[in-house]
Amino acid sequence: MTSQRGDRRAMKTLEHSQQAKHPQFPQHPKFPASRVLVNREPDGTEQAEWLRQAASFKTFALDDFSLSDLELIGNGAFSPLQGFATEAQWESIVDTMHLPDGDVWPIPVTLPVPEAQAKAVQVGECLALTDTQGVICGLLTVEDVYRPDKLREAQAVYKTTDPAHPGVAKLLARPSFYVGGPITLLRRRHVGPFAELYVDPAVTRVRFAERGWRTVVGFQTRNPVHRAHEYIQKSALEIVDGLFLNPLVGETKSDDIPAHVRVESYRVLLSHYYPEDRVFFSVYPAAMRYAGPREAIFHALVRRNYGCTHFIVGRDHAGVGSYYGTYEAQAIFGQFHEGELGIQPLFFENSFYCERCDGMASEKTCPHDETSRLILSGTKVRAILRSGQRPSPKFTRPEVADVLVAGLRDRTMEVFS
Ligand code: ADX
Repeated sequence: MTSQRGDRRAMKTLEHSQQAKHPQFPQHPKFPASRVLVNREPDGTEQAEWLRQAASFKTFALDDFSLSDLELIGNGAFSPLQGFATEAQWESIVDTMHLPDGDVWPIPVTLPVPEAQAKAVQVGECLALTDTQGVICGLLTVEDVYRPDKLREAQAVYKTTDPAHPGVAKLLARPSFYVGGPITLLRRRHVGPFAELYVDPAVTRVRFAERGWRTVVGFQTRNPVHRAHEYIQKSALEIVDGLFLNPLVGETKSDDIPAHVRVESYRVLLSHYYPEDRVFFSVYPAAMRYAGPREAIFHALVRRNYGCTHFIVGRDHAGVGSYYGTYEAQAIFGQFHEGELGIQPLFFENSFYCERCDGMASEKTCPHDETSRLILSGTKVRAILRSGQRPSPKFTRPEVADVLVAGLRDRTMEVFS
């Protein structure tokens, strides 16, 4: 117990010193001064000292999902979160989409642990969080350990308890206890083939300011890029200074296109069809929740933290199957009063290629009926690619189609070799 009290005292010191070191990032005029970025990553010597001490702490191995959450809490992308949800936070988020102190937060970011480990943990204890190879990546000071009602969480967050929903399936498959408390990020994971695209919110904010952008629109995607994406991005870009293209590259369901293929498709699209000085491209290393409306709010808050002033919400944002209405992820924004989110959503209607308009259009701008329209969706692009066909240029730019076809061919060879 003495050592736990010592740990707690030490963590307090660490927290204070981190607070003192909160860098003064450029704040967008629309971004309330109170919304400073959380920074839970000590630097240099402090980090080395914690890693040395952590070698004697009880360890917890995190799965990829939790490791990405650890990193995004640590680097401020999930500000104002300071750690994994405590029971009070979980209750408040599930029931009200707000943290107990009133900040908007729609989806609990939790650390699930198996029962045996949960029972061995004591409040106040400092745990070393490791990856699956046992490498220490962070620390957690245990504030509480609880057994959540997962069906209640599923119903509130995903609007269903159907275990066929990929987000609900994941929620139910993970261990049944949660450990809550503040974290410290000590080591980043190896980030693979596109390491340079991992850019922290503190840095994106500086980059936007350096470019003189006063308004920046964020774009979230988990799908291979198609022309409806391009259309809504460029429509938004007509009214703001810059586009923050920020595809999600964390854990997705197994039939989504692998992140490295999607990233390559974006590189190719940008180099052929976008003005370089109007786009900032970096990845969002979070796991996909597939929570539709609530995840749209989550995605918007995170892009606010990266420094965006606007966020694109199209049709069925973060949806899956037919669990959510086409525009439910837009309607949910109406539940928050102005200024509460710190970012303005830009809504787009279902967009498509119209033969008679001879170009991209949406239900808002095209008078023709469905027989003239080529409906574009990630699900459709995936289905075309899987059937071995090449998507039409009206669907996907030819340079992008080349990348996707090649990427999936390599993947099929990997799977069958
Ligand atoms: S996801 O993260 O929202 O699941 P996805 O790649 O499917 O990613 O979509 C990215 C963004 O583009 C979302 O805001 C989505 O609503 C929007 N979007 C995708 N396809 C269309 C479309 N055909 N028309 C309008 N918006 C679309």
